[in-house]
Amino acid sequence: MTPSVLVFDSGVGGLSVLQHIRQQMPGVPLHYLMDSAAFPYGTKDDELLIQRVVDVCMAGIRELQPAMLVIACNTASTLALPSLRRLLDIPVVGVVPAIKTAASLCEDGCIGLLATPATVHRPYTDDLIRDFAGHCQVSRFGSAELVEWAEDYLETAAQPAGLYDHLQPWFARQPAMSHVVLGCTHFPLLKPLLQQAWPAITWVDSGEAIARRVATLLPVNSHDCQTGPLSCFWTDRQRRPEGALKYLVTLGKVHQHGCLGPDFVIQDIEPV
Ligand code: DGL
Repeated sequence: MTPSVLVFDSGVGGLSVLQHIRQQMPGVPLHYLMDSAAFPYGTKDDELLIQRVVDVCMAGIRELQPAMLVIACNTASTLALPSLRRLLDIPVVGVVPAIKTAASLCEDGCIGLLATPATVHRPYTDDLIRDFAGHCQVSRFGSAELVEWAEDYLETAAQPAGLYDHLQPWFARQPAMSHVVLGCTHFPLLKPLLQQAWPAITWVDSGEAIARRVATLLPVNSHDCQTGPLSCFWTDRQRRPEGALKYLVTLGKVHQHGCLGPDFVIQDIEPV
């Protein structure tokens, strides 16, 4: 059996990473797990979040037996990667803001970091800026609104009315930014709208690089051309994640979907 990969996020954001994995390795079976019962992560307390991420990921791994875990969430990765790596004997790939890439592209200008309120203030983020962007000026903007808008956009395709007014005062600051890091996996899902509103900006995210990293860690025979199955699981019993399911069917057949219940067992498994 081809080894599968479990991709995890609080909501739909990790799909922006999953789609690159799918593109680079269409044969690999992919499970998408979203902790929708605890969404959003970007405004939650750190201690609470570490335990939550560990509990949900461990439950997902028990149920799905993947060969690799991808934490497709900057907010969770900048906090919980060490705990997960201590507990697991499969590779754990995390997503952190692509400060290094943006800083190398920008040389000596000003770059922006657009992420959740939690990620912009993390010591992990301070370290990334100190280690890789010493020659740049880095302007940070924490937004919980963009996370919600990305969720809505996937479900309804409705353009968020407040997007321009929300971000334009930041873009108007001097010195002007040339590159902006999308340091939350939800944000690349809004990229067509961001590009339209601020066409001079180069947007940088980690999706493609993460997919390349996954490819190097997976056994070679899993890179065949057959299309691998997709599945989708979530934690909120009250609400089916319609936006995520809609997006996944554009990438291939969703063989299973269901809720990872409070007792951490996957329930209501159905094909789409
Ligand atoms: N997609 C997530 C990230 O990359 C988290 C969004 C949230 O739940 O606040 O940070």
